[in-house]
Amino acid sequence: MVDLSHPASRTRLTRRGLLRAGAVTLAASALPLLAACSGQQAAGSPTTAAAPAQAPAATQAPAAAPTTAPAPTAAPTTAAAPTTAAAPTTAAAAAPTTAAAPAASTSSLVADSNVKGKLEIFSWWTNGGEVEALNASYSVYKKYFSNVQIVNAAIGGGTGAGGNAKAVLKTRMLAHDPPESFQVHLGHELIDTWATTGYMEPLDDLYKSEGWTDVFPKQLLDIASWSGHLWSVPWNIHRANILWYNVKIFKDVGVEAPKTFDDFFSVCEKIKAKGITPLALGEAAPFHTAHMFETVLLGTLGPDGWKGLFTGATSWGDPKVTQALNTLKKYFDYVNSDYLSVQAGDTATLVVQGKAAMVINGDWNNGQFKSENFLANTGFGWAPTPGTTGVYDALADSFGLPKGAKNRDAAMDWLKVGGSKEGQDAFNPLKGSIPARTDADKSKYDAYQQWGMGEWTQDTIVPSFVHGFAAKESWTTDYVNTMNAFAAKKDVAATQKALQQNCQDAGVCK
Ligand code: GAL
Repeated sequence: MVDLSHPASRTRLTRRGLLRAGAVTLAASALPLLAACSGQQAAGSPTTAAAPAQAPAATQAPAAAPTTAPAPTAAPTTAAAPTTAAAPTTAAAAAPTTAAAPAASTSSLVADSNVKGKLEIFSWWTNGGEVEALNASYSVYKKYFSNVQIVNAAIGGGTGAGGNAKAVLKTRMLAHDPPESFQVHLGHELIDTWATTGYMEPLDDLYKSEGWTDVFPKQLLDIASWSGHLWSVPWNIHRANILWYNVKIFKDVGVEAPKTFDDFFSVCEKIKAKGITPLALGEAAPFHTAHMFETVLLGTLGPDGWKGLFTGATSWGDPKVTQALNTLKKYFDYVNSDYLSVQAGDTATLVVQGKAAMVINGDWNNGQFKSENFLANTGFGWAPTPGTTGVYDALADSFGLPKGAKNRDAAMDWLKVGGSKEGQDAFNPLKGSIPARTDADKSKYDAYQQWGMGEWTQDTIVPSFVHGFAAKESWTTDYVNTMNAFAAKKDVAATQKALQQNCQDAGVCK
């Protein structure tokens, strides 16, 4: 049985006083997809001096305005209890016990009843779709490793990209009390925060024994690598730059998915004229504005301009960044007026309920829609966000092996499950993402995902900033907080200045 004695609701935290995410810079790596981001390494910021065994800098989050400005309603407490909170209990409790006998012929996984003890898995997956997908991974695990007790240590962070959960994880890691495994974004978040600092075990042998170097795309292997070793296992590939819309509202209003910013504003006007909120926004905790602005920047600067932001090749003071901020400011003419007290995780539901016509978020929304029985093409439609057709703003969730994991065998088996074809094809159809493996069974995926798999192979792929691919975690945190202040004040000049400062603080801009 899955032990839920460590549920999301266990930890209720405010952002203030939490440890801020890592301030250690990637010292050396060869990540082709992130090549454009190598300025972070070359910049030689003082933090690059971190010796491998050094702990990630656990700087206190500044009590600066961004964290306090917008959220009089104390978001994190509500964040811990997502509207779909019922799902975890039922799904988690039910799935593992109904598991069938291992189907050895179709899986690389081999049942082992000798592995025992607890397996504590840490993540921020507490929302609709996330919970079902996580439970699907647990189910596959229980099918093969039936004598292990899974402890679900998921923490609702109140932010889309893991906010509070990441801070809690950091506290535990620094105290040498790691879970058996934890969710971490592939890219700088994995490497800078945990690999370069000596907190993880390399996984080269596992990749070899499971034959994974042949089934994961090279870009992902490169991103999971540092110093010639592999540090985590990708569970999926997510896409950040998607505009989701309510098909019925679009039909009723007589509009189509917008491609350009002009199209988008004209669609917004028509929807607004019918008395419907055009765009859902949830900024009760810092995240959604930063995510949305990431897509506006990408649509304004283009892929190369975007990548240049992380090397210093594109200045954060550039007039195009000003233009993007002004575009974003205009978005606020069309969002729900209570956005400062709405959770990002609840914005998809506003679209399901027809309370808003559109929402910009990653394709975890696909998973959430599915969990609310709102399906592709009938319930929701989608398109790349304005100006980003043919560009895939990518991120990937992964799990690794922290040094000192109490039940190392059980942890290794968890990684085997997540990287297996069976594991990926159980998890991803529910998560909304596409599988990281290239040999997935496409018939298990919905229309959005089949489209996404095609896009992944054709599009220009760029790294997400908010979701850990493009930059070290401390810079991402600063950026998210800067954009949270923008959501409250909408001050273009002050925000652009702060963005430039964030880049300087990250050691990338002069
Ligand atoms: C992302 C993460 C996704 C999803 C999303 C919203 O950062 O990669 O798996 O959880 O946040 O919570």
